[in-house]
Amino acid sequence: MKAVCICASNILHSGEHSTSLRIGVRIAELLKGWDVPCEIIDLRNEMFSPYIGCGKCFDSRRCVNDGAFNRLYDKLTQADALCFVSPHYAPIPAKQAMLLEKMEQITFLHWWKDANYRSQMYGIPVGIVSHGGGGQWALKSYKAMVNDTIANALDTVQCRVVPLDSQWNTGLSFPVHHVAQEESIFPVQQYDWEAIDEKLKEYVRLVWQEACLRKEAAPQP
Ligand SMILES: Cc1cc2nc3c(=O)[nH]c(=O)nc-3n(C[C@H](O)[C@H](O)[C@H](O)COP(=O)(O)O)c2cc1C
Repeated sequence: MKAVCICASNILHSGEHSTSLRIGVRIAELLKGWDVPCEIIDLRNEMFSPYIGCGKCFDSRRCVNDGAFNRLYDKLTQADALCFVSPHYAPIPAKQAMLLEKMEQITFLHWWKDANYRSQMYGIPVGIVSHGGGGQWALKSYKAMVNDTIANALDTVQCRVVPLDSQWNTGLSFPVHHVAQEESIFPVQQYDWEAIDEKLKEYVRLVWQEACLRKEAAPQP
């Protein structure tokens, strides 16, 4: 069994300090501690094109114009669990939006013809983790704009978005602890990584439990 974690930052200058990547690395470490391999996909290393509605994916279930998308989509369809770690970019990073819109259309076009259609991603449990440049006060809006937006797309794809609880039913969101003004033109965001790790541990465990239950329920070959 294996997991894939998408880190959705677009920002190049942050390198390995991208908050999305740092959260993704922690998720992969948690999973590794439970003997689960997790591939991190840093979207900064990918380049997609937007969906154009040519309809050719109806037959192939792949995009005839976008090899990078297809390579990633193959990985996603073969994973037992997924995580999307996304910053708030009012509302989400453009490359992640391109990824989600192609995934959506590949499934939607079939489901629209046949309501019993099951996508290649049917039932895969997905965790969603959002964050932004704001503190605790901003988390409700990150949920509405980031988690709920991604969850809506993944519902269409027929994944199962894993809730944290009844309030945080589309995943988690993390605040910035402190924003420092330094020489950089960009704000320097500092985090309470201990608190983040605690919450991640609880949530990633729930996501992985769902993956194990799904595997147990699957018909044996
Ligand atoms: C284009 C863009 C728009 C952003 N819009 C917001 C915003 O509306 N609200 C907010 O709190 N942070 C906003 N941010 C800040 C990022 O969410 C924040 O810096 C985040 O930690 C970046 O994560 P990353 O390092 O993984 O890219 C924006 C950043 C970018 C690049």
